[in-house]
Amino acid sequence: MRAKDIREKAGVDPITMLTAYDAPSASVVDEAGIDMVLVGDSVGNTRLGHDSTLPVTLEETLSRTAAVSRVVDDALVVADMPFLTFGVDEAQSIENCGRMLKEADADAVKLECGEHTVDLTRRLTQLGIPVQAHLGLTPQGENVTGLFRQGTDAEAARHIVDLAERHEEAGAFSLVLEHIPANLGRVITERLDIPTIGIGAGADCDGQVLVVDEVIGLSEGAAPFSKAFGDVRGEMERAVEEYKHAVESGEFPAEEHSHVEPELDDVY
Ligand code: KIV
Ligand code: NA
Repeated sequence: MRAKDIREKAGVDPITMLTAYDAPSASVVDEAGIDMVLVGDSVGNTRLGHDSTLPVTLEETLSRTAAVSRVVDDALVVADMPFLTFGVDEAQSIENCGRMLKEADADAVKLECGEHTVDLTRRLTQLGIPVQAHLGLTPQGENVTGLFRQGTDAEAARHIVDLAERHEEAGAFSLVLEHIPANLGRVITERLDIPTIGIGAGADCDGQVLVVDEVIGLSEGAAPFSKAFGDVRGEMERAVEEYKHAVESGEFPAEEHSHVEPELDDVY
């Protein structure tokens, strides 16, 4: 899958996207036929024990993206650029985004967007680095905006629409819309040619994205706009408790888990 293929699905077929952070989660997502795998900076919360995405480093994302790319055959792999690894300085931004493609085999990068990413989106696209824009709630700005629904009044909504149109014009191949009113998600989807991928942005976006840990029921909590379709954490708890009990009771390891070497029988 290439960015161009995703772009062409807008308004044709619903687009599916999930995060993945390592080889096993990525292979499950890819084998299910999900269109895009996002190596989200949500890895900070879901897998690295942080309570925000801000501490995630470029090296962590390179490593995670490389692991995901090694096992994904069909889906588009999108590397989510960590806080302050882009948008500070143009040359540095291009180098960091380029490393995701050159070293970690990503197919595209995602940028949390604002006024400061319009020109950068144009430059990256010109250079051959497909950009997925991200507007609405952009969690890297939590210390400025809080972690609340965005675009809830007319002025704020107009600002998001304006930025969406400018990023499309600059060459973004798709747009993630996070935690905005459903009617704003619909308006943006109608106004843009590129696909909108919603997370807490209503049912009218061209596609949907969620955090895989929330979908499979691995994380302890989930966003109000998310949904657990499984209970992986419950299954992990069950297996670990069963293992503990089996060791403590002497049931494990059983004969079939052990090897006796006859040659050693006479040695001791
Ligand atoms: O990091 C992430 O998981 C994301 C999605 C929620 C869009 O950015
Ligand atoms: Na993110």
